[in-house]
Amino acid sequence: MALSYPQDRTCPYQPSPGYQELGRGGPLHRVTLWDGSSLWMVTGHATGRKVLADPRFSADRSRDDFPVVLPRFEAPIFKPIAIIGFDPPVHDVHRRLLAPDFGLKHVREMRPGVEELAGRLVDDILRKGPPSDLVEDFALPIPSMVISQLLGVPYEDHAFFEEKTVGLLQAKDAEGAEAAGRALWDYLDELVTAKERTPGGGDGVLGRLAGRVDGEDLTREDLLRIALALLIGGHDTTSQMIALGVVTLLEHPDQLAAFRAAPPEAVPAAVDELLRMVSVTDVSGVRVAKEDVEIDGEVIRAGEGVLVSSSMANRDPAVYEDPYAFDIHRSDGRGGAASARQHLTFGFGIHQCLGQNLARMELEVAFTTLFARIPGLRTATPVAELPSRSGGTMQGVHRLPVEW
Ligand code: HEM
Repeated sequence: MALSYPQDRTCPYQPSPGYQELGRGGPLHRVTLWDGSSLWMVTGHATGRKVLADPRFSADRSRDDFPVVLPRFEAPIFKPIAIIGFDPPVHDVHRRLLAPDFGLKHVREMRPGVEELAGRLVDDILRKGPPSDLVEDFALPIPSMVISQLLGVPYEDHAFFEEKTVGLLQAKDAEGAEAAGRALWDYLDELVTAKERTPGGGDGVLGRLAGRVDGEDLTREDLLRIALALLIGGHDTTSQMIALGVVTLLEHPDQLAAFRAAPPEAVPAAVDELLRMVSVTDVSGVRVAKEDVEIDGEVIRAGEGVLVSSSMANRDPAVYEDPYAFDIHRSDGRGGAASARQHLTFGFGIHQCLGQNLARMELEVAFTTLFARIPGLRTATPVAELPSRSGGTMQGVHRLPVEW
């Protein structure tokens, strides 16, 4: 019988045992979804790249045959999702509009501000004293504050948009997701209206784009969809990557010692190894075949769905030596020939994560600041007992109690 998808992890930084078993049997598998439909699941790295780079697969969430991986994705708010859920040419037009804001140059300019923010958050944690919930006190405020500043969303409203984001992404059914998503939509609608009334368009990316709405390349609805995707995509994934990255480092004291001792130029590779290990979204991309496609000896028929598993592709033994081992020196040739950076955590092809420069920078700053400033940091709850997200694909912990 085909494995049912998704399966919960039993360790916060390793794929579920069911996927590990599946991965041993080749790169492409059939799995069963909640509604009894079936889906192709890719666990191989090369096969995953082939699927994600092939224009015969569509990312268009508004297609009737697009796979509904979880009940909440039936909510109309998800159809379509900006950028990630569009094929070219619309995808390319919207992605180009945003490219300068997420490019390396802009992200480098943002770095001192993020360093200052991370330092301030650690000051507060130390002042308050142990224990601290690292999700609330550190992992969430960094990406949340950064994305609100970048977009021009008032950070004072963070409790609202963080709660609604969790409501949208963790909803058990379509109704719950729709209610949370609509609340966010209405909030962003009001915000964009205020920016439209501000001479020059107001601050942030949303202010800039409000001045670009032309009803053609960018409609007002497009702008609201983009705002929603960036606000959600900009904080939830990165915050959970910070939290699970901290857990991974604390669980590997030798690697944590090596991370602390690493010169600044070695930090990006260590962060890539963390991104590979944690594979926080668990998925590199979901697509539907627009026509029959032959891949690795199997024919994926037109209308069939495909999901590329990042956690498994990132552990393909054809690419990574000792793939389940966490080794921050992987990229310098000591831990296997493959660079950690080849991971599929940010996807691959035209939809590869728009926010990856920003996410990498936030992660570098978060891990270096935290472990430099709080040397004795340890989890206050056994890792096996951490309240973990379940029943979905996006990984995470609701709380991360720590002491020092
Ligand atoms: C550790 C943090 C992050 C991870 C693991 C991650 C993961 C991903 C993945 C796997 C994709 C590709 C999905 C697909 O092909 O279907 C993607 C796309 C995307 N991500 Fe991220 N992401 C992260 C952070 C961010 C941030 C900070 C932003 C900023 C707003 C962001 C915005 C986007 C957007 C807009 C897309 C769609 C790109 C396109 O379709 O061209 N992400 N992300």
